[in-house]
Amino acid sequence: MSTPVESPVNADPVAMLEAVFRRAIVAVLGESFADADPMIRPSQNPQFGDFQANMAMALAKLSGRKPRELAEQLVAAADVSAVAEPLEIAGPGFINLRLKSDAIASMLDAMDNASLGVVEDEDTHAIAIDLCGVNVAKQMHVGHLRSTIIGDALARVFERRGRTVYRENHLGDWGLPIAMVLHQLRESRTDLDALTLDDLNAAYRAAQQRAKGEDAEAKASLEAAKTTLIELQRGEPDVHRDWQKLIDVTMAAVYESFDLLNVKLGSEHNRGESFYRDMLPDVVDVFSRSGVAEEDDGALVVRFEDRERPLLIRKSDGGYLYATTDLAAIRHRVQVLGADRVIYVVDARQRDHFRDVFDAARKIGWDRTPDNTAAELVHIPFGAVLGTDKRPLKTRSGENVTLKSLLDEAIERGCREVSSRAADPAAPTHGMTEAELAAIGKAVGIGAVKYADLSSDLVRDYVFHMDRMIAFEGNTGPYMQYAHARVCSIFARANLQPAALREHPLVLNEQPERQLALLLLRYGAVVADVGQSLEPHRLCSYLYDLADAYSSFYQQCPVLKAEDEAIRCSRLRLCDMVRRVLADGLDLLGIAAPERM
Ligand code: ARG
Repeated sequence: MSTPVESPVNADPVAMLEAVFRRAIVAVLGESFADADPMIRPSQNPQFGDFQANMAMALAKLSGRKPRELAEQLVAAADVSAVAEPLEIAGPGFINLRLKSDAIASMLDAMDNASLGVVEDEDTHAIAIDLCGVNVAKQMHVGHLRSTIIGDALARVFERRGRTVYRENHLGDWGLPIAMVLHQLRESRTDLDALTLDDLNAAYRAAQQRAKGEDAEAKASLEAAKTTLIELQRGEPDVHRDWQKLIDVTMAAVYESFDLLNVKLGSEHNRGESFYRDMLPDVVDVFSRSGVAEEDDGALVVRFEDRERPLLIRKSDGGYLYATTDLAAIRHRVQVLGADRVIYVVDARQRDHFRDVFDAARKIGWDRTPDNTAAELVHIPFGAVLGTDKRPLKTRSGENVTLKSLLDEAIERGCREVSSRAADPAAPTHGMTEAELAAIGKAVGIGAVKYADLSSDLVRDYVFHMDRMIAFEGNTGPYMQYAHARVCSIFARANLQPAALREHPLVLNEQPERQLALLLLRYGAVVADVGQSLEPHRLCSYLYDLADAYSSFYQQCPVLKAEDEAIRCSRLRLCDMVRRVLADGLDLLGIAAPERM
């Protein structure tokens, strides 16, 4: 469940300052500058205040004024006296802003509820996220891991902002490759009720191998597979029933992985290629009738002015393609589900495919929602997962690493870390039961893998380095989880319910308190930014900075032993907000936040 978003809060200092300076810009330069960006940025150095407004230089150029003079006029026109100390101008025209402590405190008050400063998105259209996309009869591999966890994290971010999200698992469950396996298994009279995933994978490989041959036997079996496909397409009951069994065997393993991965995905999100099968003739028909597609040697293609290769949407033998299905899927997502953003989390090798399919959809107008909003079609072309030898991850015997084996290893490593820490009598986990430790170990292992993935730039390849991922130091999942558990431990020691703190005023006199508070106030904007940029690593960096600011605060400002009760309560309140923001942020990444570690 996502946390409900409460009333739009006035907890974003950047938004507040932007509004003030927009008014000042109009007052000084006139209405034609109403859309100018005031360029409010957090200061790199607290010496120059909390924020800088950097617009004077650019606007001076546009309006033919002197930057420093313009800065002075803007400062005179900007009424910030209620929230900020007197403004200062530095260098060529940077405006330095230092917020009043009580203004920061009242903004923090405003975010101290379930919203945590995250504001509901104004756009009320749905969003569709194409994720996972496993293929029936094939093992889920590490590429599917990336698609699944990146897609789920983005879905959580949108849901947190109140959007309706469709997680679309576009399973590869239709077409000739599956018919080949099906034919192979039926021919060898394999008992499909006792079928294991390993049998299925073996049959897949055998079928592929067989089709590669040049001899008459290979040709005959390919013909037979095609016949099976036609029977499947026609809905012959026994072929259809057997096909369903292959899906069930594949998906049972996939659901187990979903469960380990702590993603919000299940059978209700399956909308595979087979879902669109009956729509394909119409897809082709619409393209053909509208003239967007043309005949080419019996085939039907969509041509693009800037590309040599056209997009094939119907083969000369009348067969449909992967692209035809994707066109049907876009139409469904935009026009039936009403999504004004369709986000494909699919590896970089399919870049050209999506470029062509998106452009074809735009040509035919299928990027228009029922209320005629142009939907954004985006592909997130994520990079490969490499081994420590910088080559695509392989097992010792040279096979592709399966998702399952990788997760099992991560969990095992997490459990080992957690139990060895628990052996220390001073550890908060000391004396916990085996089962409790195993649950934490699992959270740590899986959290390590997910965080390592999400904290890297998505489009880059990254090296799967378990020792580094599982470390409790540096920008890692376990470090973030540990930071959260450490904050929790204060409340255990204070023996106090955080909710009781709400009544106490926040006092922000010390620099580390102010820094921490200012960082907390950025949370809502960071979540919004991840939704816009589709870059979860920005949330990771933010959480890392927050954990860092918390450490400085904790070292410099005694909490439980604060000089008086008012300061103690105020600092505990800060701790509580840090705890909640860390937990919320980790949850958006799909990472569990145990209270003890
Ligand atoms: N089944 C595909 C594969 O494993 C991924 C599906 C991606 N989604 C899509 N709408 N084409 O390569």
